[in-house]
Amino acid sequence: MLLKDKVALITGAALGIGAGIAELFAGQGAVVYMMDLDGDKARERANRIGPKAHAFTCDVSKAETLKPAVEDAISRYGRIDVLVNNAGIYPRRAFLEMSEAEWDQMQDINLKSLYHICQMVLPQMVKQRSGKIVNISSVTFFKGMANLVHYVATKGGMIGFSRSLAREMGPHNIHINCVTPGAIKTEGEAVHADPKIIDDIVSRQCLNRRVMPEEVAGVCLFLASHLSDGMTGQTLNVDGGLVLY
Ligand SMILES: NC(=O)c1ccc[n+]([C@@H]2O[C@H](COP(=O)([O-])OP(=O)(O)OC[C@H]3O[C@@H](n4cnc5c(N)ncnc54)[C@H](O)[C@@H]3O)[C@@H](O)[C@H]2O)c1
Repeated sequence: MLLKDKVALITGAALGIGAGIAELFAGQGAVVYMMDLDGDKARERANRIGPKAHAFTCDVSKAETLKPAVEDAISRYGRIDVLVNNAGIYPRRAFLEMSEAEWDQMQDINLKSLYHICQMVLPQMVKQRSGKIVNISSVTFFKGMANLVHYVATKGGMIGFSRSLAREMGPHNIHINCVTPGAIKTEGEAVHADPKIIDDIVSRQCLNRRVMPEEVAGVCLFLASHLSDGMTGQTLNVDGGLVLY
């Protein structure tokens, strides 16, 4: 039980990697707040986990929609131990065909959301003198990816955000790390990714197989637990050995 009685907020937890994280964390004893744009799906997943899972509808790009979950966690349990910023979108678009609205939407959901939710959660973590924040970036930041300029820019931004915030929050005993998944088999990937590109990526991994959401969740569990107490400001690849450094 690596997270016994810990309170964890997870965004984008109705599907894919976020759902895998919520299920693994709950199995390790955590109370999980499953925050998602699709509140019905989040509730369905939370009901399967049991009474320690709470579902909240939110849009991570809109600060006021995040408040109910954060306030519920603090009033009900008096603490927030873990925050996983996982919600994200990745629609493809050639750069020269990309509208300013598409650029802005990507920045608002994938990157500015971290500003909103960290502003809300950090005062509680500072008060506690403890906290673990895990930000789900992407291995595309290390490789670059055509037709995803707006996305990769946000994922690099998350790493810069995490490193700088780790320096600022270290004195408060708050740990902030990133995970960079590779090609993970999720519902979102099935909609947005080109199967030929995925086959090509898998053929270039050390492990020639698909990497699954629960395998990303395992590394998030490590970063959320006391096992990673000696590290902050770091980025861990979970990509089947695509990028080696
Ligand atoms: N799947 C991959 O191959 C892969 C690779 C690298 C990084 N990632 C990152 O992992 C994260 C999860 O990806 P996934 O493949 O599991 O995605 P997914 O599309 O399968 O699931 C994403 C979840 O986030 C929710 N969501 C979307 N926009 C939201 C918003 N504005 N507010 C709240 N919730 C919102 C969706 O409703 C959904 O439940 C994303 O940040 C993504 O960029 C995924």
